[in-house]
Amino acid sequence: MRHLLSAADLSYAQTLSILDTAQEMARVSEGPVKKLPTLRGRTIVNLFYEDSTRTRISFEAAAKRLSADVINFSAKGSSVSKGESLKDTALTLQAMGADAVILRHSASGAAHRLAESQWTSGSVINAGDGTHEHPTQALLDAFTLRKHLKAGVGDLRGLAVAIVGDILHSRVARSNVILLSTLGAQVILVAPPTLLPLGVETWPAQISYDLDATLPLVDAVMMLRVQQERMEDFFFPTAREYSHYYGLNNHRLTTMKNSSIIMHPGPMNRGLEITAECADSARSVIVEQVANGVSVRMAVLYLLLAGSQDEDGVLIS
Ligand code: NCD
Repeated sequence: MRHLLSAADLSYAQTLSILDTAQEMARVSEGPVKKLPTLRGRTIVNLFYEDSTRTRISFEAAAKRLSADVINFSAKGSSVSKGESLKDTALTLQAMGADAVILRHSASGAAHRLAESQWTSGSVINAGDGTHEHPTQALLDAFTLRKHLKAGVGDLRGLAVAIVGDILHSRVARSNVILLSTLGAQVILVAPPTLLPLGVETWPAQISYDLDATLPLVDAVMMLRVQQERMEDFFFPTAREYSHYYGLNNHRLTTMKNSSIIMHPGPMNRGLEITAECADSARSVIVEQVANGVSVRMAVLYLLLAGSQDEDGVLIS
């Protein structure tokens, strides 16, 4: 495997291999010496056309912990604001000898375009393309679910996960539905009909409009940000009404299984899709998701850039 563009690129065996490798990486991160020499001399570029806090920092930390050189490029303050195209930017990065390009872009399909082009010879990792996919987020979510609900081993069979809110604009939801079904978990999408994408009935997931009926059934609830910046129209009457029907609050939390966990990819709209009490509660693993993101991204970079693979693409080091 050279690129990671979609959660659908990953077989069952490859997914488990990444999660297991991430576990090893987490062990390194917890130790006194956080750095491995694995990617010494390699150059990794963070090419971010959209704003990001967690994902960019996380990829940077992951690359640095593997001893790679990291170039951070953000569209703001670059020649992109002078109208430079993705092609010319990529050619410039190629001239600098990029071994991997981590791309976040507002256009769905941007990472595929770059991977198929001759503009870069390196690996392309999709760090979010429009409303399409965000595979490393799905991997870190799977890692977090496995750690809390499966003692960190095997797949996610037997678990039910609700993904709640703005599914329509969410690349996180799309990648999670694919990856969770690869790992055998049951997925329930909960949203108002206006925030579900066309064709959602063909996804490997159940659909519900009723959060209260769903919560007692699941082992984890993944709340999604209401993505106001991608909304040109009104998708719900008022913020208050949205929270009333689809927000996670303390009362709803009491209806969930005691062992269940609360997730959110961030950034959160506290008070809209999730109350501050829920976000900060003992059942919330939201901050831990960020830490897990570094381990998972170390595993992905290692797999793409340093590891060798057998025929099934399973990592053999
Ligand atoms: C998400 C994204 O950018 O797709 N955030 C993230 O990567 N942690 C979700 C969002 O923006 O709501």
